[in-house]
Amino acid sequence: MTDTYEIIDHEHDVIVVGAGGAGLRATLGMTAAGLNTACITKVFPTRSHTVAAQGGVGAALGNMNEDSWQWHMYDTVKGADWLGDQDAIEYMCREAAPSVYELEHFGVPFSRTEDGKIYQRPFGGHMRDFGEAPVERACAAADRTGHAILHTLYQQCLKHNAEFFIEYFAIDLIMSEDGACRGVMAWNLADGTIHRFLAHQTLIATGGYGRSYFSATSAHTCTGDGNGMVLRAGLPMEDMEFVQFHPTGIYGSGCLITEGARGEGGYLTNSEGEAFMERYAPSAKDLASRDVVSRAMTIEIRENRGVGPENDHIYLHLEHLGGEVLNQRLPGITETAKIFSGVDATKDPIPVLPTVHYNMGGIPTNYHAEVLRPTVKDPDAICPGLMAIGEAACVSVHGANRLGTNSLLDLVVFGRAAAQRAVRIVEKDKKIKSADPKTGEEAIARFDAVRHSKGKETTASVRLDMQKIMQNNAAVFRSTEILKEGIKLIDKSAEGLKDLGVSDRSLIWNSDLVETLELENLMACSKTTIYSAEARQESRGAHAHEDYPDRDDKKWMKHSLAWLDDKMKVKLGYRPVHEYTLTDEVEYIEPRARVY
Ligand code: FUM
Repeated sequence: MTDTYEIIDHEHDVIVVGAGGAGLRATLGMTAAGLNTACITKVFPTRSHTVAAQGGVGAALGNMNEDSWQWHMYDTVKGADWLGDQDAIEYMCREAAPSVYELEHFGVPFSRTEDGKIYQRPFGGHMRDFGEAPVERACAAADRTGHAILHTLYQQCLKHNAEFFIEYFAIDLIMSEDGACRGVMAWNLADGTIHRFLAHQTLIATGGYGRSYFSATSAHTCTGDGNGMVLRAGLPMEDMEFVQFHPTGIYGSGCLITEGARGEGGYLTNSEGEAFMERYAPSAKDLASRDVVSRAMTIEIRENRGVGPENDHIYLHLEHLGGEVLNQRLPGITETAKIFSGVDATKDPIPVLPTVHYNMGGIPTNYHAEVLRPTVKDPDAICPGLMAIGEAACVSVHGANRLGTNSLLDLVVFGRAAAQRAVRIVEKDKKIKSADPKTGEEAIARFDAVRHSKGKETTASVRLDMQKIMQNNAAVFRSTEILKEGIKLIDKSAEGLKDLGVSDRSLIWNSDLVETLELENLMACSKTTIYSAEARQESRGAHAHEDYPDRDDKKWMKHSLAWLDDKMKVKLGYRPVHEYTLTDEVEYIEPRARVY
């Protein structure tokens, strides 16, 4: 039986769900343009995971050396192993410099060169002259770039009197019978009230689902909440099999040591003291693309050249950079290394291991941030009323593997694009069709059922089981056997959701209920990830399949789509990659071997 909940109604032009870099950039643009915008967030905005982004935001400003957005575009296409949509990639790389200058004008405290320009450092896969030699493209605020951007964007939002609903947990989307999105149902964690937000456009900016895995650089709040809501609304996820492992998570804790550390001259060694990246990527070495470096480290460990008592990790050396450089350019990770591995980085190497860091897959959108509802006839058809940006979305600019610094870039470029699109398509203050009392009742019924669940399993035990399956069965290297086993195990683990017991029935600050709702979202992401991975019989970017070691453009140059039905059964489909650019100013970059 469903408890009776009092519902508080809200009507806005636009609702933004999530207040990380993407959500805040969109909220700012929409509010400043006069749209009546509500930003709903489950954590205080400046605690969103963007705060943890370290090394920089990518833009070919050319402050240190010559650079161009066309080279940036080439690197992004190559980094993505040709699975990215080149119209969207062109858009992002073209808009990078104006978006970063805009951040500078908003007040982001970037580090500076001697002559006062934004400081830029090298990063993995960033090259000059179409792949010839490393280039400094990461615009950095020391190693706290995400922190600087997030705080600045929040302050700008406050300056424009943006309306925030803080510590509200989004339960489910409100969908009309004709399949359009009309808003979202949310639970106010502080006072237990339930809210029905109606809007012309609903923008999902809820971040990734790193916590599907046991060890991740992502915050514990990265639980794929937007992805879960979209899947429950009957819409697909795209390219979920592509999960990025960052080469340098601290061994044990998984905390991020920025790639900027290698950009500043850091390098990796094995148990023989060998700087082994020279063997795997003779030109880019430690600054090869992340998937390449993570695989190289994994091979070294597998072949018994790992370091430590169990030969199960790798060393990252920064000692030679000296205290002054570490203090000026990498103060945050020097402190993190001390706290989480007990290492003084000025004296000793930091123990590191590839760690889950980013989801290339997510809610399919076009480069205006409109969510796609692909059909066979029209793979680019849109779902009216629904938009998505940031790590929750799949535009697709990252394809099979994202370049470092392109995530902060993605947030600001597509946050801005979403605002511009909303301004164009939303008729300001146009009356919203009022809700009848039944609107949102399915969301409330699900919420109520979870709240009153009385099974034997705990949320923590099912979550741990799921995380270990993902860690073991959808890792850096995959095989048919491991993935098939993963499917069996994850199906069984998902059955555990039916037997959960929530111990606390309260509606106020009920962390057990929050974590259970989050687990449902995580499980939806985990299932679609492992099924999509099992189906893709090739190796591309972050999907390294040992039984199919080569990229197969003939059969697999296509985006995976994964739907979930109400019994949590996965159905797969595909849509074509956009093999065209946005303008005639650049040509489509033909697929070729990916060598660093
Ligand atoms: O290594 C880093 O600083 C991470 C950056 C990114 O993921 O873009």
